[in-house]
Amino acid sequence: MKNLAFLSIIFALCMSSGCTNAQSMSEKKILIVYLSRTYNTQAIAEIIQKNSGGTLVALELKQPYPENYKQTVQQVVDENESGYLPPLKTKIDSIEKYDVIFIGFPTWDMKMPPPMKSFLHENNLSGKTVIPFNTNAGYGVGSGFKTVKQLCPDSKVLEGFSITGGIERDGILFVMKGEKLKEAESEVKEWLKKIKIMQ
Ligand SMILES: Cc1cc2nc3c(=O)[nH]c(=O)nc-3n(C[C@H](O)[C@H](O)[C@H](O)COP(=O)(O)O)c2cc1C
Repeated sequence: MKNLAFLSIIFALCMSSGCTNAQSMSEKKILIVYLSRTYNTQAIAEIIQKNSGGTLVALELKQPYPENYKQTVQQVVDENESGYLPPLKTKIDSIEKYDVIFIGFPTWDMKMPPPMKSFLHENNLSGKTVIPFNTNAGYGVGSGFKTVKQLCPDSKVLEGFSITGGIERDGILFVMKGEKLKEAESEVKEWLKKIKIMQ
């Protein structure tokens, strides 16, 4: 009888302290950080937010890129060559409180854009679940998701999501509307289910 009482107390303590290791996704704190120049990646970030909850944060730079596309491409190529990390205006309030961090960015120069590299250098995501997503002009994510893994060596990096967005080079800017938005929504939901963020 004494043994049974002892076991009941241990069981109750275990349940209340979470030692069952069963924190469900809905209890996890989610942050969605994204970079977006022509708002396609932002549209994907908003779909993720709608289906997972979480806090949305757009990355802003101290010194924004030029409006001119060609000048921006040249600046990005130079920054990639020199390894320059552009300073960010955006600071995350208590990043340590988040368990899951979505990282969204467009493909630039077939790579992760320098500002997202700045973010991953400035913020320690070790021990967290990191989930990348991307939009591009049809050439894919390039080395972007590999770079996420390299810059987050102590995080659990889940399978990323990538979709065709705008083609600024050809004057095609924001495309995530109408049928394209519906398509994107269903693809994002399928992916969120696969990685068990959504039921
Ligand atoms: C500086 C720059 C470089 C880019 N380089 C590539 C590239 O190498 N490959 C590609 O597929 N798309 C490239 N793009 C196109 C963007 O990835 C695409 O338009 C994306 O959907 C933009 O996302 P956003 O609307 O969130 O800014 C580039 C765009 C910019 C502005």
